[in-house]
Amino acid sequence: MCGIVGYIGKRDAYPVLIKGLHRLEYRGYDSAGVALISEDKELHVYKTKGKVANLEQMVSQHDVSGTVGIAHTRWATHGEPNDVNAHPHYSQSESLALIHNGIIENYMLLKQVLLDNGYTFRSCTDTEVLVQFIEYVKKTNKVDLRHAVQIALREVIGAYAIAVVERGNPDQIIAARKSSPLVVGIGKDEFFLASDATPIIEYTDQVVYIKDEEIAVIRRDEPLRIINLHDIEKTPEIHTLEMSLSQLEKGGYPHFMLKEINEQPQTIVDCIRGRINVEGTDVILSGVLDNRERFLNAQRIIIVACGTSWHAALIGEHLIEDLCRIPVEVEYASEFRYRNPVIRPDDIVIAISQSGETADTLAAVELAREHGAFIYGICNVIGSSIARATDTGSYIHVGPEIGVASTKAFTGQVTVLSMLALTIAKYRQTIAPEYYRELIGELSSVPEKMRRVLEQDAQIRDLSKIFTYAHNFIYLGRGYNYPAALEGALKLKEISYIHAEGYPAAEMKHGPIALIDTEMPVVAIATTDSIYEKTISNIQEIKARKGRVIAIVTEGDTIVRNLADYCIEVPRMVENFAPLVSAIPLQLLAYYIAVNKGANVDQPRNLAKSVTVE
Ligand code: F6R
Repeated sequence: MCGIVGYIGKRDAYPVLIKGLHRLEYRGYDSAGVALISEDKELHVYKTKGKVANLEQMVSQHDVSGTVGIAHTRWATHGEPNDVNAHPHYSQSESLALIHNGIIENYMLLKQVLLDNGYTFRSCTDTEVLVQFIEYVKKTNKVDLRHAVQIALREVIGAYAIAVVERGNPDQIIAARKSSPLVVGIGKDEFFLASDATPIIEYTDQVVYIKDEEIAVIRRDEPLRIINLHDIEKTPEIHTLEMSLSQLEKGGYPHFMLKEINEQPQTIVDCIRGRINVEGTDVILSGVLDNRERFLNAQRIIIVACGTSWHAALIGEHLIEDLCRIPVEVEYASEFRYRNPVIRPDDIVIAISQSGETADTLAAVELAREHGAFIYGICNVIGSSIARATDTGSYIHVGPEIGVASTKAFTGQVTVLSMLALTIAKYRQTIAPEYYRELIGELSSVPEKMRRVLEQDAQIRDLSKIFTYAHNFIYLGRGYNYPAALEGALKLKEISYIHAEGYPAAEMKHGPIALIDTEMPVVAIATTDSIYEKTISNIQEIKARKGRVIAIVTEGDTIVRNLADYCIEVPRMVENFAPLVSAIPLQLLAYYIAVNKGANVDQPRNLAKSVTVE
């Protein structure tokens, strides 16, 4: 939530910062702003409500010169999204400008200290309190900016990634982080700063991930210095980025979401590459291999996640219990972290997160660590906070996911969970060798089967037109397809703003069936599996009450076809991996309904891609 960018070097800072903000806009788009220090060492701040494009329009008449600057795109926490609450924020004397991603929890306390000392405030934000507090510390302690930031942050409770610039000093940016991500890119005679590597990759692949309670002293023509809050100097650890620029472009698609849906056959290939052997007979997940004893002795697995990743976790529960016979509990990270859960040292905690930055999931990981559990991360963003906080794990390797609605990350997570379950099952000997090989064959067939589903794009687009103006939707599934139903409903509600609920099909008769009438579209996932007949009965119950059924069925199905109003066929797939193909038509249906409604598919209202606040 919130994206921050910074630049210092020989180029004009403004174009670098604006481009960076566009790349980070998925993190929030309530307002945008920039602070630049011009040739004459003046500090200029421009900011406005709305998207980065609004900022560009606004500054067109202003001086945007300068080779140092910081910029911000906001997802509002404290204070409504308006011009005043937009970042950067000035200090009282307007000699400092600061951008911030995170939440300062004790800002009321700090604000009172400042009010008592005659400070006044323009905005309702915790961020303005922080920049004023830094200036107050700087003046009262008579120290330079780096020391002021250091002293001030020792008093701060909460999460932050910040960058500060100072009038009269065009040669320096001071940045710091705790629990919110921050990356410094090292170019030739220039530095870049950002919430993630996407604004940096165009210029350099050499990056340093700033760690918690570290301050980056970024000075023109000097090496990068990292000093922690307690004044200990650290050697910057330089990493080489693996990402490519083309992964960050739309590649001819109208939206990132459609591009990412269509990428799935390839992202699954990337996800299983090097993990399933070329003969297609064995799975090797190194995180499990290296910790074989842990998995052999595990008494229980707890999976923590949020949103779409939580839906993937539910599928993981089915897979692990079914194939490995280890009890699994799936927890919303936000509940788990606050409810004093029983966590034992022989538990394995799996944390699933696309961004690797979700604040609640990170806190759940920290809690599990305090209780001595072994922690396995399933993340997409390489080097992200959760990936680094876990003992080991597996990246899903699906490439940057830019659309706010998660699509390819979901199928990547389910694929990693499938490989994880197969690997553990093999070690624990809870799976017959022939069945193990059969399942590996099925998993290897997923990309081709996804391709066949994607060929029905035009048909799904036509179908979407019938339902564009529906006010509610129900999604039904059973067994492995129940989490797929939850995920289908989430996709629809978040991008089209249509109310949608996912339900286990058999639960309908315990209440929700009262909602069914001719106005209620019901998406029923009824692929051929061990409870196919039961699902058919549930569809019959809906039809008897005149509900309109859109069914996802296995190719060649005739029974459901005779019952349902509309059918979308998916290739036959063993039930353990069914959501990997049944998810695709649901993603496309949600996408086209949102497009028909004219909604901003890639940046739905009120949402942000990386939820770094709790
Ligand atoms: C929905 C969506 C969110 C995320 C959730 C967790 O499409 O994207 O529900 O799944 O915010 O995010 P990560 O996986 O980054 O922890």
